[in-house]
Amino acid sequence: MKVQCLSCAPVLLAASGVHASVNATPQALNTSNVASIPNPGGPIHYYNATGDTPSYQLNSPDPVAITPLNSTSAVADAFYQELFGIANGTYFANNCSQCVAGAEVLHLAAITQPVSTFVQLLIRICEAVPAVQSSLYATSCAAAFGNTPSTSDPYSNGAAGLGAYYAQLFAKMSISTGDFNTYCYNVWNVCPAPAVVGIDESLYFSPKPASANTVPVPSGKNINALHLSDWHIDPRYDVGSESNCTDHLCCRPYSTNKYLHTNANNASVPASRFGSFICDSPADLALSSFQSMPSFFNMNNLSFSIFTGDIVSHDNDDQLSQAYVEYEEQITYQTFKAHLGNIPVYATLGNHDSFPEALNTQNGLNPGSSTSANAMSWNYQLLSSLWQNNSWIDATEAQYAATHYAAYAHTTAQGLRIISINTDFWYKANIFNYWNSTNPDTSGILKFLADELTACEARGQKAWIIGHVLSGYDGTNPLPNPTALFYSIVARFSPSTIAGIFFGHTHQQQFQIFYDFLPNSTYVRNGRTYRNTTMVDYSKPIQMAFIGPSIVPLTNLNAGYALYQVDSTTFQITGLQTYFANISQSLSWTTPVWQFEYDARTVYGSAATNQSGSAWPANAPLNATFWHGVTETMLKNSTLVQQYSLFETKSSVLTKNCTSAACARQKVCYIRSGSAALGRACPSS
Ligand SMILES: *[C@@H]1O[C@H](CO)[C@@H](O)[C@H](O)[C@H]1NC(C)=O
Ligand SMILES: *[C@@H]1O[C@H](CO)[C@@H](O)[C@H](O)[C@H]1NC(C)=O
Ligand SMILES: *[C@@H]1O[C@H](CO)[C@@H](O)[C@H](O)[C@H]1NC(C)=O
Ligand SMILES: *[C@@H]1O[C@H](CO)[C@@H](O)[C@H](O)[C@H]1NC(C)=O
Ligand SMILES: *[C@@H]1O[C@H](CO)[C@@H](O)[C@H](O)[C@H]1NC(C)=O
Ligand SMILES: *[C@@H]1O[C@H](CO)[C@@H](O)[C@H](O)[C@H]1NC(C)=O
Ligand SMILES: *[C@@H]1O[C@H](CO)[C@@H](O)[C@H](O)[C@H]1NC(C)=O
Ligand SMILES: *[C@@H]1O[C@H](CO)[C@@H](O)[C@H](O)[C@H]1NC(C)=O
Ligand SMILES: *[C@@H]1O[C@H](CO)[C@@H](O)[C@H](O)[C@H]1NC(C)=O
Ligand SMILES: *[C@@H]1O[C@H](CO)[C@@H](O)[C@H](O)[C@H]1NC(C)=O
Ligand SMILES: *[C@@H]1O[C@H](CO)[C@@H](O)[C@H](O)[C@H]1NC(C)=O
Ligand SMILES: *[C@@H]1O[C@H](CO)[C@@H](O)[C@H](O)[C@H]1NC(C)=O
Repeated sequence: MKVQCLSCAPVLLAASGVHASVNATPQALNTSNVASIPNPGGPIHYYNATGDTPSYQLNSPDPVAITPLNSTSAVADAFYQELFGIANGTYFANNCSQCVAGAEVLHLAAITQPVSTFVQLLIRICEAVPAVQSSLYATSCAAAFGNTPSTSDPYSNGAAGLGAYYAQLFAKMSISTGDFNTYCYNVWNVCPAPAVVGIDESLYFSPKPASANTVPVPSGKNINALHLSDWHIDPRYDVGSESNCTDHLCCRPYSTNKYLHTNANNASVPASRFGSFICDSPADLALSSFQSMPSFFNMNNLSFSIFTGDIVSHDNDDQLSQAYVEYEEQITYQTFKAHLGNIPVYATLGNHDSFPEALNTQNGLNPGSSTSANAMSWNYQLLSSLWQNNSWIDATEAQYAATHYAAYAHTTAQGLRIISINTDFWYKANIFNYWNSTNPDTSGILKFLADELTACEARGQKAWIIGHVLSGYDGTNPLPNPTALFYSIVARFSPSTIAGIFFGHTHQQQFQIFYDFLPNSTYVRNGRTYRNTTMVDYSKPIQMAFIGPSIVPLTNLNAGYALYQVDSTTFQITGLQTYFANISQSLSWTTPVWQFEYDARTVYGSAATNQSGSAWPANAPLNATFWHGVTETMLKNSTLVQQYSLFETKSSVLTKNCTSAACARQKVCYIRSGSAALGRACPSS
């Protein structure tokens, strides 16, 4: 039926908001607060909260109040149940969200509970979750996280004490800044890789002037410098014990091989007094390196030496102590001084030269406290005083190092600025790097480096950067964000100011080439300009990092050291020789036998062809252009790749073959990776 509605127009007008139509249908706008439709026998219905309609101030029912947990142990149990449910439950299909959820619970526990409660919580979770146990370098969860020495295990002091550091870290990290995603990716490998941050270079240095691209002109005169690395002397080394062990560490009284059922009484490969393939350095091997040097070169011609870190043995966390680390640092620098005399040693701190291993805390972690309140200041004070007492750095530099993570800058007698930085602030195992993880420089160490280089540039002075953990290569050890900033700094001050970069850590002799950025590598976001440091121009090599061979043979390597010829004004590397001891023969030695290994210009000169295709000029430095040419040739010549691989291990008989094209591509990619992000993007072999 069609409804005739003669008066509808004004209603529609009213409904559409044309309220002023007072001459509209009176009943529709009747303001009576009582319903107009009759409701016989029923209640009266009201408009506008009148009549019986209850007021707005109702007392709604609350749930029965919960009783707050009223004891520390009850709170601890509640945290444990929540964590255990996350860690061992079946709900989480996604390991990343599982890890992030657990980390957030730990964060809440760390900011509310006493440290002792937090530590107990870690121990309980560790004991319940096998994946945590298998990640430990300790005999038990209590030994890893606790700080009560064990009386039952003579080889463990049961007191790694990591729990208290985790309490500090988890109190500081935040889910809101992505810290847990970064932590869960890098430590547990269960989250997708977080994006590498763009670098706001204006926070660290001025724009690169054209003059900074000037290639320094060599003087043609050379000085010599020695590169020592990864000494890892083991004062607990036990001659004759199992050196081919399956536990950790080998060549110790307790070492066993679980497959062969061997131990110190029936060792499959007894630990030689002069070194073994999967052990740290026995004293005789380490000392013999110095003894060998005069037979290869005139020690009087050494201008200085660099030591790129790692003194302390690879003990499990619960076998280390502050006293042990201090002892190793003292005897090592005394030994260097004893053998090198007036030849200065410019040293840098390695990840093993800390207690607990690798842990370094930012001065800004606890705002307001003084720099000497840094938990690790005892170590920075010790190292800086040892270096100063040996006259390798002066009092002002030592004072800086004592309060800034053992970092310093020192001008050598030849006029070279050596800038020593603490690379634990980009090392994956320093858990404090997961705090505020999108900030590439939470410690300020890279700002220090950029400031030093800025000052060098202004003075026209050349600089070497020395550090322990390399910034790139396969990218498994450094972290992407800090090494992205490092790459920016290197590109900014190369090739004019930085004359060379020197690392250790891998125990192998390796190289890293840095390249200039592509012109389109910057982008603007919210009015600020950022550098995408992965956008490099592989046709423009500008800087080199030399990774020094280790004294320690661990793992399956020979012992080695390197000698450089250095241009006396540009301070670029113009020559490189290595020397090694063949550990496969160590059981037959009466004293370690050291040999010349190779000369880089001789071995790689023809591979490093220049633009005209002829051999590398005899007087030209072994700079980034040289090594880029070597990698170009490596992609075409598998014999050369195998040659490089052999020298990486210092000519170990246990060198793995790298003969496939895929292996060559990967190796070249690693050499061309100066940051973690670049290295991690390399193809698999
Ligand atoms: C409805 O109530 C409010 C105050 O509660 C009053 O201002 C308004 O005038 C009332 N409306 C009518 C139509 O009575
Ligand atoms: C408004 O509605 C009330 C209740 O239905 C009624 O008594 C009153 O007469 C109406 N007023 C007008 C102006 O129609
Ligand atoms: C703490 O809570 C428990 C359980 O709710 C309760 O039995 C106990 O009386 C409370 N203790 C105190 C001191 O409030
Ligand atoms: C991810 O979670 C699944 C299911 O819980 C588990 O089976 C797997 O081992 C986890 N992977 C890692 C890398 O932890
Ligand atoms: C954790 O869960 C696994 C199976 O998912 C189970 O085997 C193990 O016993 C559980 N751990 C504890 C402490 O209940
Ligand atoms: C070392 O131990 C492994 C088993 O862990 C065994 O396969 C190997 O043959 C041993 N090496 C030597 C040289 O005895
Ligand atoms: C974290 O880093 C940002 C810069 O990326 C900085 O602005 C902020 O102050 C830092 N937060 C803390 C707690 O230091
Ligand atoms: C940046 O420039 C390079 C070289 O010109 C080019 O190959 C690349 O596609 C460019 N990338 C972007 C994102 O514009
Ligand atoms: C940086 O460049 C890489 C390519 O090298 C690209 O995958 C990535 O998305 C870029 N990042 C940003 C923030 O633009
Ligand atoms: C390396 O040296 C060669 C020869 O002197 C020179 O042409 C080239 O520009 C240099 N490369 C760098 C990155 O300094
Ligand atoms: C490949 O490299 C090896 C080692 O450097 C060299 O002896 C050989 O002549 C090279 N082969 C070619 C075809 O250049
Ligand atoms: C490496 O390759 C060479 C020949 O190319 C071969 O004789 C040797 O057995 C290989 N070594 C290993 C460990 O595979």
